This record gives sequence, C-alpha cells and structure tokens, in this order.
Amino acid sequence: MELTDYRAQFPILGETTYLINHSLGAMPARAEERVAEYAHTWKTRGIRAWAEGWWTMPLTVGDQIGRIIGAPAGSTVMHQNVAIAEAIALSCFHPVDPLRNRVVYEEGNFPSVRYLYQAQPDLEVVVVPDDDAIVDAIDERTLLVPITHVLFKTGEIQDVAAIVRRAHEVGAHVILDAYQSAGIVPLDVTALNVDFAVGGSVKWLCGGPGNGWLYVRPDLAEVLEPTFMGWQAHARPFAFEPELEYADGAARFLTGTPNVPALYAATPGYDLIEEVGVETIRANSLRQTQLLIDLADAAGFDVASPRDPARRGGTVTIRTPEFEAVHKELSERAILCDFRPDAGIRLGPHFYTTDEELRYAGSQIAEIVASGAHEKHLGAVARF
Ligand SMILES: Cc1ncc(COP(=O)(O)O)c(C=O)c1O
Repeated sequence: MELTDYRAQFPILGETTYLINHSLGAMPARAEERVAEYAHTWKTRGIRAWAEGWWTMPLTVGDQIGRIIGAPAGSTVMHQNVAIAEAIALSCFHPVDPLRNRVVYEEGNFPSVRYLYQAQPDLEVVVVPDDDAIVDAIDERTLLVPITHVLFKTGEIQDVAAIVRRAHEVGAHVILDAYQSAGIVPLDVTALNVDFAVGGSVKWLCGGPGNGWLYVRPDLAEVLEPTFMGWQAHARPFAFEPELEYADGAARFLTGTPNVPALYAATPGYDLIEEVGVETIRANSLRQTQLLIDLADAAGFDVASPRDPARRGGTVTIRTPEFEAVHKELSERAILCDFRPDAGIRLGPHFYTTDEELRYAGSQIAEIVASGAHEKHLGAVARF
C-alpha cells in the first residue's frame, strides 16, 4: 500500500492543503464513527458500559500509546492533557526536599509546562537555553529535569540520552515531553531510560483533544506516590475505603472519572500510526521536510528549523517577510499551516501529504510575498 492510499481516510485532505499536523493532525473518518459508537454504547448499555470497558480505557488506550512510544504494557495512562500529566509526575515529589528543590528547565519547552513549575513556591526553576546547557546545569540540588524531545517552536530534536545520563548520575528525574515526536519521530522511552514521558494526541497521532498521556518507568511506578491522584488510583476503587492504598503500576497515576468520549475518538488515529509504522512515517517525513527546505532555499527564504536530518523533527519553519500576514493569506487559500512569533511559518506534512501539495504550498508562499497579496492582512492577529 502506498502512503497516499491513506488519504481517503482523512476527509479534510479533499478540501484543503493540510500542513498543520504539528498542531492538529487531520481527523481519520473512523473517529466520527467511534464517537457515534460511544453515544450508542451510552444509550444502549447505560451503567453497564463502565464494566464493559469504559472504566479501564485510560489503561487500555494508554497501552496503545505505549506501543507507539516503546513503553511496556501497563506503564502508560491517559489524561486530559500534558499540564495534568506533568502535574501528576511533579506531585510525586511533594513535599519537596529543600536541599533538592531545583528544576533545570529547558527554555524551549512548551510554555504551559513552564507556568506549572513557576507556580510552585517550593521549587527553584533554573531556565537554560539548550540541551548542552541542561547537562551542565544539573547537579546534586536538581530534583527534576523537564525537557522536550522535539521543540515546538523550532522543531529541533534534543539529545535526550545525554541529559538522562547526567540526571541519573546525581539522582534527578527526567520528564520528557514527547508531544511533538510521538507519531512522527521514532521514540523509545525504554531505551532512552527517561523516568517519565508526557504527550498528547492532538498532533501527529491524529487522536484529537482530551487525550494526553503519561508514561512512568515501571520500577519507579511501584515506589512513587503521587499526591495529585483520585479514586481511580486506589487499589480497590469500588470498595470506597476511607484510607488510601495505591494501585499497583501505572494505575496509581490516574485521577477521577475518565474522559470516555475523547478516548473513543483517539484510537483510529493510533491504529493508522501503528499500521503505517513510525519508521516509515519518519523516512517519508525526512524526505518531505527536505523538499520544503529546498523550496524555501529556491525562493530565497530563511529556514528557522534545523537542516540537519538528525536534529530535524516533523516541522519546517520558513521565515518570510511579514510571515504573520502571509500565513493569513495562505489560510484564505485553504493552505492550512500556522506561525509562531519570532520563528516563522510552520509547515508540518504527515504521511498522507503529497509532494505536489508541498510544491503547491511553496509556490503559493513565493507568489504571495512577490505580489504583496498578504499586505491587506498586516496588523491582523491570528490566534491559531
Ligand atoms: C511540546 C508540547 N507540549 C505540550 C503541548 C500542549 O500541552 P497541553 O496538553 O497541556 O495543552 C504542546 C502543544 O500544544 C506542545 O507542542
């Protein structure tokens, strides 16, 4: 099967040039059926649906994420979003030891994670600019090292292994945000030996909103005790016991009632990612991101994302003059992409993108800049 044969399963590809998979992956048609299945189950099975699968969905769906990120079964659970997943990981270290209260924080992490750490009065957050500086900044006072596999703004892959080695030397824990890599860049959390990994499904996994996830290294999961938890994390939730006894394994990192409709919608995207395989997706992505770089070079635009394939994630950031307005004009031409302040226009092809679409987008960007068609948008602010 050719990769382009999958296009029919993503209806929006028939109507737009869809290059925004680093922000919201295209919806698989089957997700709509799954949402209807959820409603039908609720309607016909009622309360019985909990015992027939709903209750354990954060674990069963988490296992499917686990297969994509190299995590063993029973080590990944689903949550609403990264902010919650990260807060649960952080809650394992409360109360904080004042002699080990430092967070070595990578500047390029997604900001919602940064706000979470800044909001903790008992932590000292040390912000460092890049992966080399992270390694240098880690010492015996370091409690946590939240890092990102592929940076959201620049699309750059970080040297996770070196950071994990240094963190473990001094007894610190690494939390890897793999939102921008899961589903597009091969990722093996077991081989990387990270302590935690977090991510979501809105982007390359094509799983839609409400499907964040948290991986905890299995040996740690047996001993850590999250202080942000709920009844799903109890060893016997339906006994409604007055005292807390943690569930074994990843279940202890759950909270309360799961987001069942989101979990239904998530799996068609994961099924396709598993079927195609992340290695195949990556090979195609490297080829197509190189094509985008070549198109930018030919048009005389700067490329703000890495050229080196070893450092290049799934997104190419092209800096044109007045790129915010160029982005708006592209959107009016049904070429869907986005921009980030101080970076440029972000283009994220996925396995279902054709080379023709990339050439079309490249020629449209060049034409817009040359003709000044974007100038009517100058001053307008777009949010996504
Ligand atoms: C690297 C990264 N982490 C996290 C997020 C989102 O975090 P949350 O799930 O808390 O909205 C994004 C983008 O939305 C991201 O690119």
